[in-house]
Parts: sequence; C-alpha cells; structure tokens
Amino acid sequence: MARRLAAGNWKMHGLGADLAELEAICGAAGQGCEVLLCLPATLVHRGASTAAGRIAIGGQDCHVMPQGAHTGDVSAAMLADAGASHVILGHSERRADHGETDDIVAAKAQAAQLAGLIAIVCVGETLEERDAGRTLEVVGGQLAASIPEGVDLARLVVAYEPVWAIGTGRTPTESQIAEVHAALREGLAMRFGAVPAGQVPLLYGGSVKPGNAAAIFALPDVDGALVGGASLKAADFAAIIAALAAA
Ligand code: 13P
Repeated sequence: MARRLAAGNWKMHGLGADLAELEAICGAAGQGCEVLLCLPATLVHRGASTAAGRIAIGGQDCHVMPQGAHTGDVSAAMLADAGASHVILGHSERRADHGETDDIVAAKAQAAQLAGLIAIVCVGETLEERDAGRTLEVVGGQLAASIPEGVDLARLVVAYEPVWAIGTGRTPTESQIAEVHAALREGLAMRFGAVPAGQVPLLYGGSVKPGNAAAIFALPDVDGALVGGASLKAADFAAIIAALAAA
C-alpha cells in the first residue's frame, strides 16, 4: 500500500500574514495520512520554521541545475536548504505558462531527487484531449516520459490533474478518476514491477473540496489529493485531511 498524502498547492498565493493559516493547518494534521503544503518559494523557509516538522513543506518547481547563472530560478538544493522535503514538478500551469516538456520535467525530477527531495510529478489531459478520447494515451505518455531513468521510486509521487478540472469546480466522474489511476498504476507496474509501483502514492488533483473528498478517496488507487484553492483555507483543507485520514 502506498502512503496516503494530503498535499496543498498554494500556487502564487501567500504572504507572511498567511502563515497563520499554515499554523491552523498544522493543528489539523494527525494520524492517518501525511500532510504537505507546497508554498511559494518566498515562504518555504518561514513555512518550514512555522511547521517545525508537524507537516511537510514543499516547493512548486525547481531548476534542473543545482546552481548557476539562471536569474530568478530556484534550485532543488535551495529548496531543500530552506526546509522543503518535496517539490511539485510538471504542473499543468508550468507546462502551459513556461513551455515545460516531459523531458524538462524528467530532468527536474532527477535534480530534485539528487538534492534529496521527493518529486511530485504531475500529469493530466486537456478537455480537448479528453473529448477526443485520448486521455489514457496522453496521460500514459506524460507518465512514461516525465519520470527519469534511474528514478528512486521511494521518493516519487504522481499526481493526476486533468487540466479542465483545475480551479473550475468541475471534476471527472468517479469512474473516470478510477480509470486513469488504474492506468497510471499499471504504467508504473509495467516499467518498475508491481510491488514497487504499488508503493508510489497516486494523488488526484482538480477542484477537490470538503464536499467531494471522501468519495474521491474511496476510489481504488487514489492515495490522496493535490489541492489548490481549498488548501488556502485551513478549515477546508482540514476537512479534506480528515476525509483522507478516515478513508
Ligand atoms: P484546484 O484545487 O484549485 O482546482 O487546483 C488543483 C491544482 O492545480 C493543485 O495543484
């Protein structure tokens, strides 16, 4: 069984004053699942200090190089140094806004693991791709190409985030989520073997809210969630954490 993980992604939200919300989220963490908040780079150090080990803190992207002349970028080693244990890679917003390809995501995942971080590799289809019946092909292709050779599966998490479900209030049906998660597990099993593949947490992301979390967490091969908007409010994220812990 994979570990269960309730992961929040604050995206480009969060100032020092919002650490009060993080403090409240720490209070909601308990037995039953791991809790992670992926903060903007400017808050990683303060967030890790505030959390003091009660929840894990992550970044939202890293450069492929450990250091160098890359103005404005942040390396995996820098995130780790600031107190992060995880980093989100290949989020659809990075793929769309910054032209990140599967090859770049794979290189970033390798860099993240070299720095000791757990890499959360994101995959997901657009609405156009789903409507064309290409979901499994697209997601399977992203999975295969975004996970580097020599990956350490013990430090890998995969997140399925349909692009059309992010921030829209729309979610796939339960059978659509289950179908993709089964395909992801199968894709990992074909490449790495069933037992190691079974230990990689598979997260669902896209409009996860307190009201739909329990039904999503009851699905096979769903080991947790990557939560955007609902992770900004401690009360909402606490309800999602509780639903996962009870699943
Ligand atoms: P929402 O939960 O706001 O739909 O965002 C999902 C997401 O992109 C998490 O990475």
